[in-house]
This record gives sequence, structure tokens and C-alpha cells, in this order.
Amino acid sequence: MVVPYSAEPATDFTQEENRKAFKAALENAKNDFGVKRPLVIGGEHIETDDQITSYNPSDKEQAVGHVSKATQGHIDAAFQAAEEAFETWSEWDPRDRAELLIRVAAIIRRRKHEFSALMVYEAGKPWNEADGDTNEGIDFIEYYARSMMELADGKRVLDREGEHNKYFYQPMGAGVTITPWNFPFAIMTGTTVAPIIAGNTVLLKPAEDTPLISYKLIEVLEEAGLPKGVVNFVTGDSGVIGDYMVDHHKTHFITFTGSKATGLRINERASVVQEGQHFLKRVITEMGGKDTIIVDKTADLDLAADSIVNSAFGFAGQKCSAGSRAVIHEDVYDEVLRKAVELTEELTVGNPVEDTYMGPVISQKQFDMIKGYIDIGKEEGTLKIGGETDDSKGYFIQPTIFADLDPKARIMQEEIFGPVVAFAKAKDFDELLEIANNTVYGLTGSVITNTRENWIKAQKKFHVGNLYLNRGCTAAVMGYHPFGGFKLSGTDQKTGSPDYMLNFLEQKVVSEMF
Ligand code: NAD
Ligand code: ALA
Repeated sequence: MVVPYSAEPATDFTQEENRKAFKAALENAKNDFGVKRPLVIGGEHIETDDQITSYNPSDKEQAVGHVSKATQGHIDAAFQAAEEAFETWSEWDPRDRAELLIRVAAIIRRRKHEFSALMVYEAGKPWNEADGDTNEGIDFIEYYARSMMELADGKRVLDREGEHNKYFYQPMGAGVTITPWNFPFAIMTGTTVAPIIAGNTVLLKPAEDTPLISYKLIEVLEEAGLPKGVVNFVTGDSGVIGDYMVDHHKTHFITFTGSKATGLRINERASVVQEGQHFLKRVITEMGGKDTIIVDKTADLDLAADSIVNSAFGFAGQKCSAGSRAVIHEDVYDEVLRKAVELTEELTVGNPVEDTYMGPVISQKQFDMIKGYIDIGKEEGTLKIGGETDDSKGYFIQPTIFADLDPKARIMQEEIFGPVVAFAKAKDFDELLEIANNTVYGLTGSVITNTRENWIKAQKKFHVGNLYLNRGCTAAVMGYHPFGGFKLSGTDQKTGSPDYMLNFLEQKVVSEMF
């Protein structure tokens, strides 16, 4: 028996001993700067001449390290290794697989600050966000391990006179995990370990901007004794290996988290049955968001402003769950806007090594894109605070609030994925909901109200996968708030839910006549 699941607690950085320990981890992480991480295929470490360099977004000349670039030939070899490993790994008792992964979680827990410190440098995460990312990775492992233990014996179906029936779960084969840079440890870990705990084998392709933190998981999997070939680490250019992995006739499933454009492309390509493929590919796509906080006229206005600001600017707005729209009842609009601007004035922006509230955005590409949206915002609305950008050393953008937007304005409709929030006003609660639902996305949303009837209405009519009352729209905790979106935010296989493992399992029925 294992202890029941509970989420990993956040590190309390108000405690001096925790601050000291984290500062030491930040110093230690520098010893690895410039390191070269190999591909790992069938347990073999392969270093290629062609490399991806992972830079520090706070200090863009600083190379945090390098990873090898897989070719299509490496992908073929990785599928071969994954298929071979599947033969034995799939035969392990599910409880033994789960226990091995619980050991993985224990090792990560002991080295927690080392993982978080690397994300401060590689992803520009502030301390608390990096700590949250590592903790969520641990949570995914602990949660899915227990889910699999519960499914290990299948479920009961009825017997009839002279007949015995069984219903149980089995893994599918080799598949592909493709991950984004914004939760470079948590999402990468969750979408890698769920399929393998189920008994499948995986080719892991992490985002080009944050490959080094994913190698840390590989190190721990090796240390914990995961058999060779169960997880194959194939960093590389998505333009070279992305489609190839998705299209591959040996790919049984694809678990993808990233942008809408890439998710839709993967969904479409995976539907084509390739030569030599004798099954349909399962696709999980978790995509973007344009998440809204609506504020009713009965709301606690301080709570509303705080929820808007923290949901918009936590990790510089680079969360699929980020609250990038605040839609407010006209009676309280001016007051909430004023309070939000005041709170934003207090936020610190700078190199997150110094424990700032907000660090940089991830890359030049994202910086340029967000800057472009700030220019659009200046045309479409009224700039209330922020708008300044500086990429002389790192990719820094001040937290930015635009007011008085038309609900159909571009910055009200398109995912910006940066520290920009757009305010719009509505005349009543129905209009608040109407605006909240007027995008192609449906990931998260919040309702700030003290009118119970309106909260009840929102539960039915606010069309998002994760809806929150009187709090911000980020920071789902695995096991407590299963996470995933409707509409073009994804296929809604909620991560951290009691049903998630079923995505990676086939359901078998065996019926015997006596
Ligand atoms: P992205 O789509 O650019 O990249 C995601 C991954 O896909 C990367 O590993 C990338 O290399 C790979 N990729 C790119 N082209 C590919 C192709 N043709 N075939 C296969 N793989 C390919 O997204 P990103 O910029 O890394 O991440 C940010 C996006 O992720 C945002 O839109 C955000 O909302 C979304 N996101 C969603 C969730 C969620 O749970 N819904 C969580 C985190 C991030
Ligand atoms: N799961 C993350 C959140 O809720 C994306 O913010």
C-alpha cells in the first residue's frame, strides 16, 4: 500500500533557510553552464555534431547548455528501441511500474531546488514559479502512479450462469510526447510518465527553448532503474523531426502540449493511416487559451483586482491559463481598473535570479510577437500602464494593461502569451458571459461575484474546461483541479484527473464459457 496522494507543498521562500538553500542551488547550477547533453536512444547516449544551444532569456548571450539534434534516422532508431523495450516493459505488473516511478518522484523531491534553479536560468522562471513547476512534475508522477495501481486489476463486469467475464486494461505500444517550454518540467514530466506507467514506451521531444531541464528527468529515470528504451530522449528541430515523429507508422499515440497551430497540424496529420500502420493513432492535444476573468457588480473589488493582476502577470503571462482578458460590470469597471493599475505598479521586473515577481519572456521570437501586440493594443485601446520593452540584455516586457477594448478587438481575441491584459466592460452579467465565451478558446476562466445565482448560471454557461469562483484562473493543482480545455483549447483529456491514464490504455474484454 502506498500513502494516499497529496500535492507537493510549495517552498516557503519567506523562510530564511529556504532562501539560503535556493541561493546555493542557483550558484551550483552555474557549474553546469555550457554542458552538452546527448540524445538517449535505447539507453545509448549519442552526441551529435549539430547542437541546439539553450540560452538564458534574462541574459541572452549566456549559453546554459547544449543538446544534440536528432535526425530522422535517430527517430527510426528510437522507435526500434521503444518497440523492443515495449515487449518486456508492457509485461511488468502495473504496480511494479508505478512503484518505480514513485522512486523517481522521491529522487526529484530530494533534488528539488536543483531542478527549479535550472528553470530560473533556462526558462526565466521566478523562484516561486520554478518551484511550482518542479512540484507539479512530482505531483503528476505520484498521482498517475496511484491511478495506475487502481486500474491494475481492471474493473468488474457481470458474470452470467456458465460464463465468466473480465475487463482489464493494457498498454498500446510506442508513442510520442511533444512538450512546450512554458512548463518545461511539469508538463514534460506528466506527459512522459503517464504513458509509461501505463506500460507504453515513449519518444520524448521537448521544446527547443528548454531542453536541458528535460534531460534532468532522463538522468533520474536512469538512476531509478527504468529499463533502457522505455523513454527515448530525442531533442531536435521540430521542422526536421516533428512531422516525421507524428506521421511515423509506429506511433500509437501522440501526447502534445503547445500552440493551437501546431496542435491542429498534429491532429490532422495523425488521422492519416500510414503504410504499415494497423491501428488508429490516439491524439491528445492541449493547446492555447484566451482566458477571461469576469467581475460582477457584487464582487469584492480588491479580490477582483488581485486575481486579474496575478493571473495576467504570473510568469510574465506565459501560461495557457493566464488571465489575458478582464471583463467587468460597468458599475465597478473604473474602480477595478484603478486598483489593478495600482497593484501592477508594485510588481518587480528583472532577472529572476534576484527573486523578482516577473522575469523575461522566453525568446526573441516571443518578445517580438508580444511587442507587436502591444503596438496593436495602442491602436485598439487605452494604455493604462506598462507597454515598455527592453531586449538589450534579456527579453524584458513591463506588465501591461490596456483598457476600453471592443470585445472583438484582436488583443481580446488572440493569444498573446505575454504580460498583457485587456479590459472590457459589460452592462450586465449575461453580457459578461457572452463576452467571456466569444473566442475560439475554452481553457480557463474565473467569476468574481457575490451573487450565488450568477455563479450557478456561470457553471452552466461559461464554456471553459476549468472554471473558478472568487480566485484567479491559473494555478490548477493536480489531483484537485484536473486540467484541460474545451473548444480549440484542446481535446480535453484532463491532466491530473482520475480518467487521464485511460488515454494510454486499451480496454480488453475476455469472456469464458464454463
Ligand atoms: P509550440 O506549438 O510552438 O511548440 C510545442 C512543441 O511542439 C515544441 O516541442 C515544438 O518543438 C513542437 N513542434 C513544433 N512544430 C511541430 C510539428 N510540426 N510537429 C511536431 N511537433 C512540433 O508551442 P510553445 O510555444 O512551445 O508553447 C506555448 C503554447 O502552448 C501556448 O499556445 C500555450 O497556450 C500552450 N500550452 C497549453 C497548455 C495546455 O495545457 N492547454 C499548457 C501549456 C502550454
Ligand atoms: N496548470 C497550469 C495552471 O493552471 C497551466 O496555471
